[in-house]
Amino acid sequence: MKAPQPFQYQGSKRILAPLILRYLPGKMKRLIEPFAGSAAISLACATEGRAGEYWLNDYNQPLAGLLSLIINRPEEISEHYARIWRDNDADPLEHYYRVREDFNCVRDPKLFLYLLARCVKGSVRYNADGLFNQSPDKRRLGTHPATMKQNIMAVSSLLRGRSIITSQDYRDILASARPSDVVYMDPPYQGVCGERDSRYYSGITSDDFVAALDQLNTRDIQYVVSYDGHLGARSYGEQLPAYLGLTLLEVEAGRSSQATLLGRDEQTVESLYISRNLASELNIKPARLSRTAPLDDGQLHFLAIK
Ligand SMILES: C[S@@+](CC[C@H](N)C(=O)[O-])C[C@H]1O[C@@H](n2cnc3c(N)ncnc32)[C@H](O)[C@@H]1O
Repeated sequence: MKAPQPFQYQGSKRILAPLILRYLPGKMKRLIEPFAGSAAISLACATEGRAGEYWLNDYNQPLAGLLSLIINRPEEISEHYARIWRDNDADPLEHYYRVREDFNCVRDPKLFLYLLARCVKGSVRYNADGLFNQSPDKRRLGTHPATMKQNIMAVSSLLRGRSIITSQDYRDILASARPSDVVYMDPPYQGVCGERDSRYYSGITSDDFVAALDQLNTRDIQYVVSYDGHLGARSYGEQLPAYLGLTLLEVEAGRSSQATLLGRDEQTVESLYISRNLASELNIKPARLSRTAPLDDGQLHFLAIK
C-alpha cells in the first residue's frame, strides 16, 4: 500500500522512503522524527505497521500545528481547506496573497495548509524576518478539496491515537529519547543552510548536530540520518566524522531538476548514515545504491553498485 502524503513539501523523503525503511528495524516500539517536515518516513512506517508509536517534531510551529490538526482533527482541517480553496472562477492569485498576509500575522496552521498546497513546488521560503514569502504556483490551483480530504483522512487513520506532535529544537527531543526508541533524522540541507536556511524555519550547525549524534551513541540509541548530498562532482555539506562509527550508504537518487534546467546530466547522491548499534543488528555494510527505472509494481527499486 502506498503511504498517503498530507501535503507537498520540498525535501520530502516520500520517494526514498521504501529504501530508507530497509535500514530501520522491522518492528519498533517508537519511531522519533525530530525533523518531521511532512512526516514521510513515519507515514511509510505506519503504512507497514512498523512502529507502535510515533513522535513527530518540527521546529516550525505552524507546520507542527498542521500535522497535529491533520492527525487529530481531520474533519475540521479538511472543511477549513475546502472553505478557503479557490477554483478558477474566483481570483486565486489575489486570494493566495491575502491568505499569505493573514498567515504572516496570525501563524494559523490552517492557513498554512492552503499556502503549502498552492505555493511553488511546496517549497516554503522565509525572509530574514521569518515571514513566509513564497509565491503562488500560477499553473496550479492546489490540491482539490475532495482529494485533500481523502489524503488527510488516510493520514489520520494511520497516526491518530499513536502519535505525539511537538515543536521544539531537535536537541530537546533527542535529550528525551529512550534506548528503546529508533530515531530517523533528516535535518535541513546542511550544504546550503549554515546557520540559516531560507527554505526552512531554522537552520542547524553541523557541530551541534555531530555533538547530538555523539550523545545518542553514548546512550546506545539507534538512529538513521539522511545527510549532505553530492551533485555531479560537487559535494554539498561535510561528511559526518569517522569517530561517530556510522555506516554510510550512498544513494543515487536520480537526475537533479536543477542540473537538468542547466542542461547538465548530473545525479544527485544522497547519504544515509546508520548508527553502529543498528548496523550491527541489521548487518548493514557500506554500499552505493542506484535507483533503477520503476518496475511493473510501480515501486522504486535500488541496485547495489559497489
Ligand atoms: C529536510 S526537512 C525534513 C523533511 C522530511 N523528512 C519530509 O519527508 O518531509 C527538515 C525539517 O527540519 C525542520 N527544522 C529546522 N531546524 C530545526 C531544528 N532546529 N529542530 C527541529 N526541526 C528543525 C524544518 O522546519 C524542516 O521541516
